[in-house]
Amino acid sequence: MHHFAYKGGELHAEKVSLERIAEAVGTPFYCYSTATLERHVKVLTQAFKGLDPLICYAVKANSNQAVLTTLVRLGAGMDVVSEGEIRRALAAGCAPAKIVFAGVGKTRGEISFALRNGVNHFNVESEQELDFISEISTHLGARAKIALRINPDVDSKTHKKISTGKGEVKFGIPYKDAMRLYAKADRLNGIDVVGVHMHIGSQLTQLAPLEKAFTLMRQLVVRLRAEGHDITHVDLGGGLGVPYDGSTDVPPHPDDYADVVRKCFGGLDLKIMLEPGRLIVANAGILVTRVINVKKGDARTFVIVDAAMNDLIRPTLYEAFHDIWPVTEKLKNAGIFADVVGPVCETGDYLALGRKMPAVATDELLAIMSAGAYGAVQAGTYNTRQLVPEVMVRGDQFAVVRPRQTYAELIGLDRLAPWLAPTRPEPVKAAAPAPAIARKPEAATASAGVSPAAKRTPTRRS
Ligand SMILES: Cc1ncc(COP(=O)(O)O)c(C=O)c1O
Repeated sequence: MHHFAYKGGELHAEKVSLERIAEAVGTPFYCYSTATLERHVKVLTQAFKGLDPLICYAVKANSNQAVLTTLVRLGAGMDVVSEGEIRRALAAGCAPAKIVFAGVGKTRGEISFALRNGVNHFNVESEQELDFISEISTHLGARAKIALRINPDVDSKTHKKISTGKGEVKFGIPYKDAMRLYAKADRLNGIDVVGVHMHIGSQLTQLAPLEKAFTLMRQLVVRLRAEGHDITHVDLGGGLGVPYDGSTDVPPHPDDYADVVRKCFGGLDLKIMLEPGRLIVANAGILVTRVINVKKGDARTFVIVDAAMNDLIRPTLYEAFHDIWPVTEKLKNAGIFADVVGPVCETGDYLALGRKMPAVATDELLAIMSAGAYGAVQAGTYNTRQLVPEVMVRGDQFAVVRPRQTYAELIGLDRLAPWLAPTRPEPVKAAAPAPAIARKPEAATASAGVSPAAKRTPTRRS
């Protein structure tokens, strides 16, 4: 459930009209609802009542400082995958002891940064990474707590680009290698083995694959303890899906998810850690865009809007479906079939294809729903389009939590190579009075800005 609803015929984020925000910040813009973020944390916490899990929000889903700070104040920890995300988590006030560091390609610099900043533990993705962590923590005189990310080779039945638990993907350590690597980890300097980690994919709409993977993790924990490893926690990753389209593939409720966790890990006296991203932020955010024009082709109608694939890449990257609501409710009455597309020069630049939607006209506002996760964080500046602003609403207040990038900021990031440095313009000599006789063609060139003298003698530069 979210807090975007029509009031008096106008779509509101909580108590703030989106039209009002559009007037203040222009379009397109992302808009996040605080009440929805709070609700999602509450629902998840209640589902796990009695288990007291550490909820480490997956920063990659939406890393805006206002979102992170809101979640930190609700008690969340953070799941991070880069030094940048560690910095963001710390800047938002997250205690290092609540930060877990995952990611398939942690650099030595990042490992060192994480250790120096006292993150809770590393979710280790390969044998070589384990060696790096041992070397670096020994060098720093530190001890790194680790869990191995185990790839259980389970088909999570989600889109192939966000499926991470099958044998052929780059993520995690094969289940069959787990015992050997835990034994090795135990022998390595500077390492404390503390847990087991898994994450089999995102936007999961079925519990069966999760249950299968959890069962394997339970068996692993039992075997590891029997071998003398002090396993105190199991980190179950994130992945629970959200309803993007009210009608199909309704994901399981967090209560049912929590019941599976209880069933699989009951009686083991394990700390449960969770890394939800999408579940917390997806439906807490929308992307508001304005119709530029409606172009009727021979075969299709295109609603051309001012948001594009560079602002929200999910439709073209994952064939993702986002509901599209008109900001003015009355438009819902009439119906057209249209592709909702952006101005970017790619045929793949669309937000919806063949969508039955209200008839719309130039300048009307549309809300692309459920865009809070993997939206703004994946935005780019293709076609020299500015990163769009992000706005956060709380009750009847709103604040710009990331201003629109200016063209000066965008273009100003580029630097000229020294050999392209701007040259000083050649001094232009005062033109001599035109002689009364007809001029030859080359003399005409001189009058176009380069004096004959300058042509003969190269000007010296200091
Ligand atoms: C290791 C890990 N944990 C958590 C998440 C968050 O997943 P979701 O947003 O589906 O909950 C991801 C996302 O890919 C991930 O890779």
